[in-house]
Amino acid sequence: MKAVIMSPRRLRVAVVGSGPAGFYAAHALLDGGEPAIEVDMIERLPAPFGLVRSGVAPDHQRIKRAAEAFEKIAAHPCYRFLGNVWVGRDVTVEELLSLYDLVVIATGSSSDRRLGIPGEDLAGSHAATSFVGWYNSHPDFRDEHFDLVVERAVIVGMGNVALDVARMLVRPPDELASTDIASHALTALQRSRIQEVVLLGRRGPRQAAFGLRELHMLAEARGVELVVDQDLLAHALSDPRSSDAERLKIQAMLTLSRARHGLGRRRVRLEFLASPVEFCGTEGRLTSVRVERNTLIEGEDGRIAAQGNGQYESFDCGLAFRSIGYRGVPIPGLPFDARTGTIPSLDGRVTDGVGGPVLPRLYVTGWIKRGAIGVIGTNKPDAQATADNMLADLAAHPTADDPHRDHAAVLELLAQRGVAFTTFPDWQAIDAAERSLGTKLSKVREKFGRVSEMLDAADAAGRAQDLGAGAARDASSRSR
Ligand SMILES: Cc1cc2nc3c(=O)[nH]c(=O)nc-3n(C[C@H](O)[C@H](O)[C@H](O)COP(=O)(O)OP(=O)(O)OC[C@H]3O[C@@H](n4cnc5c(N)ncnc54)[C@H](O)[C@@H]3O)c2cc1C
Ligand SMILES: NC(=O)c1ccc[n+]([C@@H]2O[C@H](COP(=O)([O-])OP(=O)(O)OC[C@H]3O[C@@H](n4cnc5c(N)ncnc54)[C@H](OP(=O)(O)O)[C@@H]3O)[C@@H](O)[C@H]2O)c1
Repeated sequence: MKAVIMSPRRLRVAVVGSGPAGFYAAHALLDGGEPAIEVDMIERLPAPFGLVRSGVAPDHQRIKRAAEAFEKIAAHPCYRFLGNVWVGRDVTVEELLSLYDLVVIATGSSSDRRLGIPGEDLAGSHAATSFVGWYNSHPDFRDEHFDLVVERAVIVGMGNVALDVARMLVRPPDELASTDIASHALTALQRSRIQEVVLLGRRGPRQAAFGLRELHMLAEARGVELVVDQDLLAHALSDPRSSDAERLKIQAMLTLSRARHGLGRRRVRLEFLASPVEFCGTEGRLTSVRVERNTLIEGEDGRIAAQGNGQYESFDCGLAFRSIGYRGVPIPGLPFDARTGTIPSLDGRVTDGVGGPVLPRLYVTGWIKRGAIGVIGTNKPDAQATADNMLADLAAHPTADDPHRDHAAVLELLAQRGVAFTTFPDWQAIDAAERSLGTKLSKVREKFGRVSEMLDAADAAGRAQDLGAGAARDASSRSR
């Protein structure tokens, strides 16, 4: 039910984070039949779109077009983007609560999960999170280094991120060259000597976390062979407990691995029932991953779990990625559930600890609410549910008419602090500059991998206008 809000002024909402969850929440608030709401979207990078820009693989350009829908949301007259503003560093949550009627946190899950086994920090062992950020030009990972001049890489985990990473490692670089892949990553991939990528799944084929479409994309990359234990697949296929969806995936593994047998220049090997127990190395460098083989046991709740069976095996490799899930990062001033890596909440309302009381005017949506699960579209109903509760709470408890909640107040605060924030037109200037660079390199775009480069591109566009008008531009005049 949509609440009707009677207010003499526009209600002001801060959406923190500009990924899918943030945009879907903004859309639900702006177009929810409530003409009196203004949304400021506060993003720590100068550029919007979260993992759509810096997570989705470069060869998934069609999926990256989700950003076009977000651009339409940003065109709403009551929407404003404030990029390069890091909540918890440049502005506190407490300050946001004084500047806005409501605050919704949509900061995603930017960190990685660790295995907690010996050798995890050897040179050559990385989090998939870093590799993904590196090939997607995320500024946090611009200076990472990945030695691809090795013959075998091991990836721990069998989710869609693991498949993305495997595909990027084995796909012929010329198939990536025209995408928005970072040029530094393309160069490294062109020099790569990787022949085989081994994916380790701790459970069996029925429990593989990747999707059917992603499996097809991986196996159909030119010159790539898929290797899977045929007996294991046949056994899983005949298991009466297998669901239709599981059977489809197992059948696809069988078909794809048979069809391409012996044809590939590069191999992807799916090793099920294998848990890493140690990353081994010499002189601080990774040389192999030791695994324990598992048997599957069914718990009372029906969940199938992996249990080590005391048999060990080693995979020689010079590179390893743990791809066992993303994890949220705490924001100073907000509660955090370290077990799940999320902000505790009840129906989208932030709570003071798990099961604790609701904290007024603070909400949460997306991966930082649910954990790092689900595709772009999963965040839409999630954001809608949070927004519905925000509107219902506003109707039940109208916020006080506080003069601090003026739309200029946040700009004044940022200007006072010397925060060089970007607006949506600034982002559009960055976007145009990236596309223009890309055209010169015969690719979709060449992303700026450093915050300073993005700000320079925005400044260059602003400066061009200002030079025409004969005026200088300072940080506070970024607000257009
Ligand atoms: C590698 C990878 C590939 C994926 N590929 C696909 C795919 O092909 N198709 C698909 O449908 N789904 C894909 N997904 C899933 C999809 O990206 C997620 O469902 C979605 O991005 C989650 O949205 P979110 O808004 O919660 O988080 P995010 O997209 O992570 O957005 C969070 C935003 O908050 C910002 N932020 C963080 N902290 C702060 C702070 N303190 N202050 C201000 N801003 C902050 C971040 O910079 C970011 O822009 C992929 C996920 C990953 C990890
Ligand atoms: N193309 C796309 O649509 C796309 C692309 C990328 C990501 N995404 C989505 O983004 C979300 C996150 O993806 P993800 O791949 O990071 O996570 P995920 O789907 O949760 O997969 C994590 C994998 O890591 C394994 N794992 C977890 N803990 C482990 C441990 N301690 N030891 C060994 N293995 C462990 C899991 O095995 P168990 O199952 O045994 O726990 C699983 O195979 C998913 O919802 C995914 O669908 C979508």
